[in-house]
Amino acid sequence: MTGVSTTIALTNAAQMLTLAGDEAARAGAAMRELGILEHATLVIEDGRIAWVGTHAEFTAKLAAGELAAPQVTHDCSGALIMPALIDTHTHLVWAGHRRDELELRLGGADYEQIFAAGGGILSSVRQTRAASEQQLYEQSLARITRMRSCGATTFEIKSGYGLDLESELRQLRVARRLRDEAGFRIKATCLAAHAIPEEARGSDDARAAFIDRICTQILPAVVGEGLADYADVFCDRGAFTKAEARKVCEAALRLGLELRLHANEFGHTGGAELAAELRARSADHLLHLSDEERAALREAGVVATLLPGTSLVLGKPYANGRALIEAGVPIAVATDCNPGSCALENLAVVLALASYGCKLTPAEAVVATTHNAAASLGLASEVGRLAPGLSADLLVIASNDYRELVYHAGSPLIREVWSRGQRVDRAPV
Ligand code: NIG
Ligand code: FE
Repeated sequence: MTGVSTTIALTNAAQMLTLAGDEAARAGAAMRELGILEHATLVIEDGRIAWVGTHAEFTAKLAAGELAAPQVTHDCSGALIMPALIDTHTHLVWAGHRRDELELRLGGADYEQIFAAGGGILSSVRQTRAASEQQLYEQSLARITRMRSCGATTFEIKSGYGLDLESELRQLRVARRLRDEAGFRIKATCLAAHAIPEEARGSDDARAAFIDRICTQILPAVVGEGLADYADVFCDRGAFTKAEARKVCEAALRLGLELRLHANEFGHTGGAELAAELRARSADHLLHLSDEERAALREAGVVATLLPGTSLVLGKPYANGRALIEAGVPIAVATDCNPGSCALENLAVVLALASYGCKLTPAEAVVATTHNAAASLGLASEVGRLAPGLSADLLVIASNDYRELVYHAGSPLIREVWSRGQRVDRAPV
């Protein structure tokens, strides 16, 4: 940054999705409110949005001297401008890969069987423990940079491939370096309760001791270093029980962390109920959900985070987006980017999958990957809408109709990615 004030106008976009409205997560019919402007212009000043309106208003205000002439004008005729995407559920700091599991699963092996046999998450734990912080940083930086070029500029990152004190801290320190050194907007989550590590698998006592270690050593150390905003637990069949998850969640709450929970992916094991009871910011996956569980999430103000990429990769059913909308539960959609169950890096593609799989309309899928995602991370005053005062994190898309993001899913429609008022999809000019 030069310290010199720069004003940039992105002018005359065919369509602009402002998502105008307040900071609360949207539910029901409000999930289709995109605040669309046609022939619209947006002015950026010092990395923040300074003005948004129609191009006719813009030229009138310039002529009347009510707006200063921008230093840079960037013609966006024929294009779509919308908020940059926000990925609220990733496990993007890991070492190595699990490409071999892809072939195992295609050959008929089940994700849960691979996990129970010591592969899956535990394979990534072995590889991540063996990596130095620098190796982990470099692999993760390459990955998050690719993810940003697909349209996301804000990320939640979970630990959970360490499962011991030092390795969990190392993963979270890498997430912090991605924020502080590489400039990504990041919220971090301690997911030490992702799996029972190999060394704690011998007996019930060893398992209980591991859970105790999370509560009394790992979480306090993470909070002591200020490395996480949230705690998460994989509360599901084959992972942690509701009672175990409750212990970890209560310890996290006592330490001042908020909660996001992996819940109801493989069955009704109580994760969604616990998320509601403890007022988690988010309950994620939710493939199996009853009317009562949906009502409990709504009453508790929990955002339902859907991860349709994981359903695609694992060949599982899709979460029922329509039932959540009808029940009035606000929805976010995220990649779940991780080395095993879904290594998809492209949130724009996952947005389309939320339509085809979870049956969200394109407008609902846009809200779920922008404003509602921001709200679930406590960032709605910073990103997720195009309004004066918010950070200039936005996409310029080669289309005049947002529905093409779903219609032409996977096509390279995203022409430019801007974060904090700078183009980040290529070296700045
Ligand atoms: O959200 N469900 C648990 N965690 C990840 C999978 C992690 C892995 O397989 O490495 C998920 O799908
Ligand atoms: Fe996950």
